[in-house]
Amino acid sequence: MAESPAKGTGDVGGSIAWDDVSVAFGSNQVLDGVSLSFSSGFNGLIGPNGAGKTTCFNVASGFVAPSSGQVRLNGTDVRGLSAVKRSRAGLARTFQTPRLVLEMTVLENVLVGTERQHRAGHVREVLSFPRARREARELADMSMDLLRRFGLEGAAGQRAGSLSLGSQKLVEVARALATQSTVLLLDEPAAGLSASDTSAMVDGLHQLVEGTSLCVVIVEHDLQLIMSLCSSVAVLDFGRIISQGTPEMILQDKAVVDAYLGAGFATGD
Ligand SMILES: Nc1ncnc2c1ncn2[C@@H]1O[C@H](COP(=O)(O)OP(=O)(O)O)[C@@H](O)[C@H]1O
Ligand SMILES: [Mg+2]
Repeated sequence: MAESPAKGTGDVGGSIAWDDVSVAFGSNQVLDGVSLSFSSGFNGLIGPNGAGKTTCFNVASGFVAPSSGQVRLNGTDVRGLSAVKRSRAGLARTFQTPRLVLEMTVLENVLVGTERQHRAGHVREVLSFPRARREARELADMSMDLLRRFGLEGAAGQRAGSLSLGSQKLVEVARALATQSTVLLLDEPAAGLSASDTSAMVDGLHQLVEGTSLCVVIVEHDLQLIMSLCSSVAVLDFGRIISQGTPEMILQDKAVVDAYLGAGFATGD
């Protein structure tokens, strides 16, 4: 069996930090001096709809330019780097609505995540050389292993578009892990998932991330998922971080209770 991709991320711990980041869309100040840092392991970023969580991810991955502030990926300022260069530097993300290539098979979608690791050249050339063929086989094995961890090995040959939304989200997480990135941003990975898909997601992430140096940041309304997985949680409200600490600290923080529990956040409304 191929080595778990997350375990191949090396000894250096992944980390991501937003330093005093502000973003405005017209007169809408969406992020207002966000300073936040996460390191290896599972980290949660929570807050009500419209708080700016996805915008934090968009700034990190290079889709939105901040009006001020910077993002550091593994300690390095990524200002000025394109989304593609940030991805090459070790950043992977998923989207609230999964973005798979629906006409390709589930396995092919995960293989897309491994593209960066082709040492022997582009896929098309890969098939004509023995070393490259071996490499392609290894990457396919690794991708199958990832699918297995999420209970999707039986769907490997199916068109991605034929899967339920929940299964597509699992495939997207598998594809992000296949990139062997050091920092993984997951935007509402469990939203819309059935209870069994959610537990497949949590179990798969546990197996693949625990004991590695991967830094995973999860935006999620499912507080139970956040509290069970994450050792560090930050709370964003109206573009500002109002609390950061262990799950226990967050749950007891009056500002968080006032901002969410009263607004029905704890029940995922
Ligand atoms: N590209 C954009 N253009 C204009 N407004 C945006 C854009 N992206 C996000 N917003 C606005 O920024 C605010 C925060 O959005 P978002 O980061 O998606 O919040 P969250 O993910 O916490 O629900 C919302 O008011 C949203 O309408
Ligand atoms: Mg969002």
